[in-house]
Amino acid sequence: MEMLSVVQARQAEAVGHKVELRGWVRTRRDSKGGFSFVELNDGSCLGNIQVIAEKNLPNYESEILHLSVGSSVIVRGEVRASPAKGQATEVLAETITLVGTADPENYPLQKKQHTFEFLRTIAHLRPRSNTFGAVTRVRNCICRSIHNFFQERGFFWVHPPIITASDCEGAGQMFRVSTLDPAKPPLKEGQIDYSQDFFARPTFLTVSGQLEAEIFACSLGKVYTFGPTFRAENSNTSRHLAEFWMVEPEMAFFDLNDNMDLAEAFLKRVFGDVLTQCDEDMRFFEQRIEPSARTTLEGIVNSEFRRLSYTEAVDLLIKSGQKFEFPVAWGTDLQSEHERYITEQVFKCPVILYDYPRQIKAFYMRVNDDDRTVRAMDVLVPRVGEIIGGSQREERLDVLEARMREMHLDPTAYWWYLDLRRFGTVPHAGFGLGLERTVQFVTGMANIRDVIPFPRTPGIADF
Ligand code: 4AD
Ligand code: MG
Repeated sequence: MEMLSVVQARQAEAVGHKVELRGWVRTRRDSKGGFSFVELNDGSCLGNIQVIAEKNLPNYESEILHLSVGSSVIVRGEVRASPAKGQATEVLAETITLVGTADPENYPLQKKQHTFEFLRTIAHLRPRSNTFGAVTRVRNCICRSIHNFFQERGFFWVHPPIITASDCEGAGQMFRVSTLDPAKPPLKEGQIDYSQDFFARPTFLTVSGQLEAEIFACSLGKVYTFGPTFRAENSNTSRHLAEFWMVEPEMAFFDLNDNMDLAEAFLKRVFGDVLTQCDEDMRFFEQRIEPSARTTLEGIVNSEFRRLSYTEAVDLLIKSGQKFEFPVAWGTDLQSEHERYITEQVFKCPVILYDYPRQIKAFYMRVNDDDRTVRAMDVLVPRVGEIIGGSQREERLDVLEARMREMHLDPTAYWWYLDLRRFGTVPHAGFGLGLERTVQFVTGMANIRDVIPFPRTPGIADF
């Protein structure tokens, strides 16, 4: 007797093997001939395995004929070639042990198609749905591919803190971490006295591990972070989460072109891995969620990304004659409608925009010789818009200090960051890829809340 997962038992090579399978019942059909078909799923793949239960099983009348959707069972039997269409194998049961029942009156996940909004309200059962199971497997594949890509290229995975005193993006969208009593905080001159807080200063959940990644890049050469990040922006959109995962590679001696080359190679590798390793799930997304999901990825893996400057992009948008909700003018940040227009309508492929106006970008980005723009880059993809944001970093001490003052940041609070420019400074660059936006793009799922196990958005942290 071999213990197999459903994905293994579905392979033709399993035929003839005596196996044990463990999982949850998806459907049961009783035939007049005195036997039943039980579709079993264990999450190892999208497809179920068909189990044939004959009436000579000792618990056929008492249990099998009452097996309901969602019950858990252990099946022992022999894998046979299946005469049915769409499946190579089936299992003739020798025993079926009912482990846990699921009352059909109350089990919320019945056979019918549920809306994603409804599934969000049952986040504890949603992984048992076809769509969320497929999302979870693809998300795992993407994460494995991310690590493989960097590990194979000699990057070290570093772990920046989650609790931090610095606001990397300078946007003031941080969640405070405090153990002070909110009803009676200690006051000093009318303000909350954070010197009496746990860390003796104001502290927050990190919005990005970049600044810490720079420390390690400026000693180990090539590093990446990969972990949760937090943003208290009140954006109730289909592309924003308050808690999301970000991958941030950071490379010493890289300029912006090296950075763009790496980002392009990286995305192609991840998309290519999903296509080869998640074929069954990707066919599901193509058929049920977004018809272009798979072909879009195939197109990207085999073509060049378009690269153009922010200034060229703004010209193009203005000349397009297209009506946008937000008007376009040089110096304003591009909105998602503009980004999507560029990648979906104009180029129909991923686009890397670079050299953004200095006033709309973070303090750490390298100032160009024109003094008006910084060495920033955003990678835009169809349907999602911005998937990567990155830049070459300002490695010149005097310029960086001036930029910090211009943006009302206190250079003394970032003394360690400035030290990297005082001692053996080097040109360096990096970027951040949003994991959920990547999963969203790959699968074609319309809402980012449906690609993370437990979404955190304004007003919602139920589970
Ligand atoms: O463009 P962002 O803000 O860049 C940074 O944080 C830099 N420190 C990265 C770096 O250079 N090391 O964020 C990077 C990416 C975005 O392109 C987007 O994919 C994702 O993170 N992202 C979000 N994803 C979900 N919800 C949000 N609220 C997000 N904000 C950013
Ligand atoms: Mg960005």
